[in-house]
Amino acid sequence: MKHRIAWQGIALALVAVTASADEPRKSPGERAVEYRQSVFTVLANNYGPVHMAADGKAPFNAADVQKRSDRVAQIAKFLDDAFPDISNGAGQTAAKPEIWKNTADFQKQERLLVERSAALAVAAKSGDQAKVKAAADELGKSCHDCHEQFRKK
Ligand code: HEC
Repeated sequence: MKHRIAWQGIALALVAVTASADEPRKSPGERAVEYRQSVFTVLANNYGPVHMAADGKAPFNAADVQKRSDRVAQIAKFLDDAFPDISNGAGQTAAKPEIWKNTADFQKQERLLVERSAALAVAAKSGDQAKVKAAADELGKSCHDCHEQFRKK
């Protein structure tokens, strides 16, 4: 047991050394931007295949659609703290400063994303392609509307 804990310590130390060798050092704001872009990447890479399947552009595999829709519903909830103040204008962000001025509107868009993602997960459980399509289309409006208002072109 003791040995195992010691090895974990060494492994963590190695991770720390590797991370600090990663020059140039990123600011906390830049790291926050990269984090949220990763969240969106995972969101899009699960939502995309669901939408394709719902539209009949890819085979509709109910189990896969359900798995991905559950992920979308889960990941949507990551956004509520993915826009810290320090990330406003940091690094290579496409997030408009309006996000931090027009917070109420932005949070409304986030809430809609969470609600519509949850509805997608419910639809996916039914295994009914038409229901999934309706929910996926509705969710797609969230992506579009928020990008129009709060993301740089
Ligand atoms: C509440 C607002 C909001 C909603 C809803 C939203 N997005 Fe975004 N999205 C953004 C913002 C802002 C950015 C820019 C982030 C940055 O560069 O810091 C972004 C960036 C992205 C990116 C680019 C990530 C990268 O690597 O730079 C993808 C892909 C994406 N969104 C997909 C989606 C999809 C798919 C949906 C719907 C399922 C969605 N978004 C819903 C606000 C939103």
